[in-house]
Amino acid sequence: MTDLDLGFVLNGAPVSVTVPADRVIIDLLRVDLGLTGTKLGCGVGVCGACSVTVDGELLSACLVPAVRVAGSEVRTVEGLASGPELAPLQEAFIRTGGFQCGICTPGQLMAATALLAERPAPSDPEIRAWMMGNLCRCTGYQQIVAAVRRAAEAGAAAAKGGATTDGPTP
Ligand code: FES
Ligand code: FES
Repeated sequence: MTDLDLGFVLNGAPVSVTVPADRVIIDLLRVDLGLTGTKLGCGVGVCGACSVTVDGELLSACLVPAVRVAGSEVRTVEGLASGPELAPLQEAFIRTGGFQCGICTPGQLMAATALLAERPAPSDPEIRAWMMGNLCRCTGYQQIVAAVRRAAEAGAAAAKGGATTDGPTP
């Protein structure tokens, strides 16, 4: 099978890689580039564990051919933090207890990041509707919704120049 030469931007850094032409994005990330933050769950586009963004569009990395990333900007969970500083959304997941085993969490974070980019102040029903494609077997979802709400509130407070709280969400 013919190989594929791919050039794209991954979490802000240019990447060039040659992969088999039938690669899907999750194997490009995990196998070829060693970025194992993106998780393989169902492998058939149902669970959302493998969610990444390509040019801001939320995609299931287990389904989409690697050729899709050519010339694009790809973001994975590894790109959320700034060095040792977690993104507000990651902080919010910790503060609210928005994960237990953590397998679904990278996908939840990427889906919520895409939501907040499109809709910075979503209502709870909007959060639930958006996150419907990201399954979790552990948390019961309440804490995940609370985490996204908390991150949205922190973003709104930061935009106004206000302080955010570090206390637990009731
Ligand atoms: Fe891709 Fe489940 S692993 S949607
Ligand atoms: Fe375990 Fe979501 S935290 S599946």
